[in-house]
Amino acid sequence: MATNRTFTMLKPDAVENGHTGAILDKINAAGFRIVALKKTQMTKANAEAFYAVHNERPFFGELVEFMTRGPVVAAILEKDNAVDDFRTLIGATNPADAAEGTIRKLYATSMGENAVHGSDSDENAQIEGNFHFSGREQF
Ligand code: PPS
Repeated sequence: MATNRTFTMLKPDAVENGHTGAILDKINAAGFRIVALKKTQMTKANAEAFYAVHNERPFFGELVEFMTRGPVVAAILEKDNAVDDFRTLIGATNPADAAEGTIRKLYATSMGENAVHGSDSDENAQIEGNFHFSGREQF
């Protein structure tokens, strides 16, 4: 069933570099409503579980190490067509391929350190949102 929610994390590079406010501002300006929001530090076990679908990929260890080197800002966002519109707003996984004005074009530095995560399907948006937030944290 299609939902109107997506899940995002501002990754450790974006948080370390002081881009949290600017990225949240862009998300807001693009018409997303914040359903849930927190700054949190994932453990290695948390990151391995969150990214389990990628555990056979060659960059898995690097991805887990990166995502646990500092806090992330996790959020559930709401808007019509949220998953696709958010992926358009953040741009391509590799910032070198990201369109002008997208969050990754503005704030990402590499394929690994690409500033922001966005769910790739309605189903994953729900799973990922529930990974970070309980029902009573989602409004
Ligand atoms: S996507 O957006 O899911 O289609 O991209 P994908 O290429 O499948 O990548 C999945 C996640 O892995 C991250 N990634 C990497 N991390 C470290 N090193 C390398 N080389 C690398 N390539 C991809 C990518 O940023 C995706 O993370 P999320 O959090 O899903 O954006």
